Amino acid sequence: MASRMSVSWRLAARTIAAPARCSTSASAPRAVLRQQSQRRLYSSEPPRSSSGGSSKIKFWPFLGVIALGTAGYVALVNRRKDMPPAVGAPTPAAGQLPAPAKSTPTFSPDDVTVIFVLGGPGAGKGTQCANLVSKHGFTHLSAGDLLRAEQERPGSQFGDLIRDYIKNGLIVPMEVTVQLLENAMTDALAKGGSSKGRFLIDGFPRKMDQAHKFEEAVCPAKLVLFYDCPEDVMEKRLLERGKTSGRSDDNAESIRKRFRTFIETSMPVVDYYEKEGKVIKVDATAAPDKVFANTEKRLTERLGTKY
Ligand code: C5P
Ligand code: MG
Repeated sequence: MASRMSVSWRLAARTIAAPARCSTSASAPRAVLRQQSQRRLYSSEPPRSSSGGSSKIKFWPFLGVIALGTAGYVALVNRRKDMPPAVGAPTPAAGQLPAPAKSTPTFSPDDVTVIFVLGGPGAGKGTQCANLVSKHGFTHLSAGDLLRAEQERPGSQFGDLIRDYIKNGLIVPMEVTVQLLENAMTDALAKGGSSKGRFLIDGFPRKMDQAHKFEEAVCPAKLVLFYDCPEDVMEKRLLERGKTSGRSDDNAESIRKRFRTFIETSMPVVDYYEKEGKVIKVDATAAPDKVFANTEKRLTERLGTKY
């Protein structure tokens, strides 16, 4: 499976433009080489000239041209690194994933508020997000739901890849998820008219590369709501949900893998944002209503009553 995933992924990877060649280094050395070949500088035979000193002097112009060509090439590569993303490129449809390379976020945090919602599988992220939507008017985007929808979308080139990753509790390559989120945010903002976007991004970022990519290409996050819950409580909830959810990963084996991924891959994301002072940690062991009351209290402490 690993090799199939990596092949699919390579297919999906964006094309990186090869650096442009520097014309100085391409044409000028040719002329020099022509000149010097007449002087047999590239010959394995020793120079016919009896004067060893004169052959040393003739080599300098050639070195000069190489140095100039190299400097030109380095300057060109450095300039390309700082180039802004292509302007006016249309927002890709889901079928045109994955995400483009960008160094400027699509949305400004002045216009759009992003709160990441994290917690282990079964911590109750979705339930709490639903409460925050109905009471505080956020837009809820679940990374897992978006991935499952893409998996089922007829004609998606990522369907099989997503299916494999989800079944095994692994993190789907980030370009796919980041692009799905960006598309969903764009759609939500288009529907919401001129009102400012306030997003709860649920179950994301689950890996450091997702965090970096999203903040760099889509929108910097304001806060992270982290629902903290013991594994045995989460396991009980997931097994209960598995009786009716129809999800391929709500079974004992997948749950074990998801817990492992959460500890090894997702907790470092929480720790990273903790150091940034962005995490609001809420105990998610209690019943949903109690957890929600606590969520509101903690959000009010941080953001005031209007959030
Ligand atoms: O959040 P949820 O439990 O619905 O996620 C289900 C699965 O989707 C995860 O176990 C993982 O395989 C995938 N996923 C991901 N990256 C995310 C969110 C979910 O790869 N940010
Ligand atoms: Mg969920």
